Amino acid sequence: MAFIDWKDELSVNIKLIDDQHKELIKLINELSDAMKVGKGKDVMEKVLSRLVDYTKMHFGTEERLFETHKYPGYIAHKAEHDKLTKQVLDLKTKFDSGQSVITVEVMNFLKDWLQKHIIGTDKKYSPFLIGKGVS
Ligand SMILES: [Fe+2]
Repeated sequence: MAFIDWKDELSVNIKLIDDQHKELIKLINELSDAMKVGKGKDVMEKVLSRLVDYTKMHFGTEERLFETHKYPGYIAHKAEHDKLTKQVLDLKTKFDSGQSVITVEVMNFLKDWLQKHIIGTDKKYSPFLIGKGVS
Protein backbone atom coordinates (compact mmCIF):
# COMPACT_ATOMS: atom_id res chain seq x y z
CA MET A 1 0.00 0.00 0.00
CA ALA A 2 1.28 3.38 -0.95
CA PHE A 3 1.64 6.18 1.57
CA ILE A 4 -1.24 7.97 -0.16
CA ASP A 5 -3.67 6.08 -2.33
CA TRP A 6 -5.77 7.80 -4.96
CA LYS A 7 -9.45 7.43 -4.23
CA ASP A 8 -12.53 8.64 -6.07
CA GLU A 9 -13.37 10.93 -3.16
CA LEU A 10 -10.35 13.01 -4.25
CA SER A 11 -11.67 13.61 -7.75
CA VAL A 12 -12.67 17.16 -8.68
CA ASN A 13 -14.16 15.80 -11.91
CA ILE A 14 -11.80 17.87 -14.04
CA LYS A 15 -9.30 15.59 -15.77
CA LEU A 16 -6.43 18.07 -16.02
CA ILE A 17 -6.59 18.76 -12.28
CA ASP A 18 -7.13 15.14 -11.26
CA ASP A 19 -4.07 14.16 -13.30
CA GLN A 20 -1.98 16.82 -11.58
CA HIS A 21 -3.25 15.74 -8.15
CA LYS A 22 -2.32 12.15 -9.01
CA GLU A 23 1.18 13.30 -9.94
CA LEU A 24 1.47 15.17 -6.63
CA ILE A 25 0.44 12.01 -4.79
CA LYS A 26 3.06 10.09 -6.76
CA LEU A 27 5.78 12.56 -5.79
CA ILE A 28 4.78 12.53 -2.11
CA ASN A 29 4.79 8.72 -2.21
CA GLU A 30 8.25 8.81 -3.79
CA LEU A 31 9.51 11.11 -1.04
CA SER A 32 7.96 8.84 1.59
CA ASP A 33 9.59 5.75 0.06
CA ALA A 34 12.96 7.51 -0.15
CA MET A 35 12.67 8.49 3.51
CA LYS A 36 11.63 4.99 4.60
CA VAL A 37 14.57 3.25 2.96
CA GLY A 38 16.94 5.95 4.16
CA LYS A 39 18.01 7.29 0.78
CA GLY A 40 20.89 9.74 0.83
CA LYS A 41 20.51 13.49 1.11
CA ASP A 42 21.20 14.03 -2.59
CA VAL A 43 18.32 11.75 -3.64
CA MET A 44 15.97 13.28 -1.07
CA GLU A 45 16.95 16.75 -2.22
CA LYS A 46 16.08 15.92 -5.82
CA VAL A 47 12.70 14.41 -4.98
CA LEU A 48 11.88 17.34 -2.71
CA SER A 49 12.84 19.77 -5.49
CA ARG A 50 10.58 18.02 -7.96
CA LEU A 51 7.74 18.09 -5.44
CA VAL A 52 8.22 21.82 -4.79
CA ASP A 53 8.40 22.63 -8.52
CA TYR A 54 5.40 20.49 -9.39
CA THR A 55 3.37 21.99 -6.55
CA LYS A 56 4.09 25.52 -7.79
CA MET A 57 3.19 24.55 -11.35
CA HIS A 58 -0.03 22.91 -10.18
CA PHE A 59 -1.10 25.90 -8.07
CA GLY A 60 -0.38 28.08 -11.10
CA THR A 61 -2.70 25.94 -13.22
CA GLU A 62 -5.55 26.28 -10.72
CA GLU A 63 -5.00 29.99 -10.19
CA ARG A 64 -4.98 30.67 -13.95
CA LEU A 65 -8.31 28.86 -14.23
CA PHE A 66 -9.69 30.96 -11.36
CA GLU A 67 -8.53 34.17 -13.05
CA THR A 68 -9.77 33.21 -16.49
CA HIS A 69 -13.23 32.30 -15.22
CA LYS A 70 -13.45 34.92 -12.43
CA TYR A 71 -13.90 32.33 -9.69
CA PRO A 72 -15.35 34.12 -6.63
CA GLY A 73 -13.35 31.99 -4.16
CA TYR A 74 -10.04 32.96 -5.76
CA ILE A 75 -8.52 35.05 -2.95
CA ALA A 76 -9.19 32.60 -0.11
CA HIS A 77 -8.07 29.67 -2.22
CA LYS A 78 -4.86 31.40 -3.32
CA ALA A 79 -4.09 32.23 0.32
CA GLU A 80 -4.05 28.50 1.11
CA HIS A 81 -1.71 27.90 -1.83
CA ASP A 82 0.60 30.72 -0.77
CA LYS A 83 0.76 29.46 2.81
CA LEU A 84 1.66 25.93 1.77
CA THR A 85 4.17 27.17 -0.81
CA LYS A 86 5.92 29.17 1.89
CA GLN A 87 5.91 26.17 4.25
CA VAL A 88 7.42 23.78 1.70
CA LEU A 89 9.99 26.35 0.57
CA ASP A 90 11.03 26.83 4.23
CA LEU A 91 11.22 23.08 4.58
CA LYS A 92 13.36 22.83 1.46
CA THR A 93 15.70 25.60 2.61
CA LYS A 94 16.15 23.94 5.99
CA PHE A 95 16.61 20.54 4.40
CA ASP A 96 19.15 21.80 1.85
CA SER A 97 21.18 23.54 4.54
CA GLY A 98 21.17 20.45 6.76
CA GLN A 99 19.05 22.12 9.47
CA SER A 100 16.27 19.57 9.19
CA VAL A 101 15.42 16.17 7.83
CA ILE A 102 12.31 14.67 6.29
CA THR A 103 10.46 12.91 9.07
CA VAL A 104 7.26 10.92 9.41
CA GLU A 105 5.70 14.10 10.85
CA VAL A 106 6.68 16.08 7.76
CA MET A 107 5.28 13.37 5.50
CA ASN A 108 2.03 13.23 7.48
CA PHE A 109 1.75 16.99 7.26
CA LEU A 110 2.06 16.88 3.44
CA LYS A 111 -0.42 14.01 3.19
CA ASP A 112 -3.01 15.65 5.43
CA TRP A 113 -2.60 19.02 3.77
CA LEU A 114 -3.06 17.65 0.27
CA GLN A 115 -6.06 15.50 1.10
CA LYS A 116 -7.79 18.18 3.16
CA HIS A 117 -7.08 20.85 0.57
CA ILE A 118 -8.46 18.75 -2.28
CA ILE A 119 -11.55 17.62 -0.40
CA GLY A 120 -12.26 20.82 1.54
CA THR A 121 -11.11 23.55 -0.85
CA ASP A 122 -10.50 22.28 -4.38
CA LYS A 123 -13.80 20.46 -4.60
CA LYS A 124 -15.60 23.76 -3.99
CA TYR A 125 -14.51 25.07 -7.41
CA SER A 126 -15.67 21.99 -9.31
CA PRO A 127 -19.30 22.97 -9.99
CA PHE A 128 -18.26 26.54 -10.86
CA LEU A 129 -15.46 25.62 -13.28
CA ILE A 130 -17.36 22.71 -14.81
CA GLY A 131 -20.25 25.15 -15.35
CA LYS A 132 -17.79 27.34 -17.30
CA GLY A 133 -16.96 24.42 -19.54
CA VAL A 134 -13.67 23.35 -17.92
CA SER A 135 -13.23 19.59 -18.18
FE1 LIG B 1 -5.94 24.16 -4.78
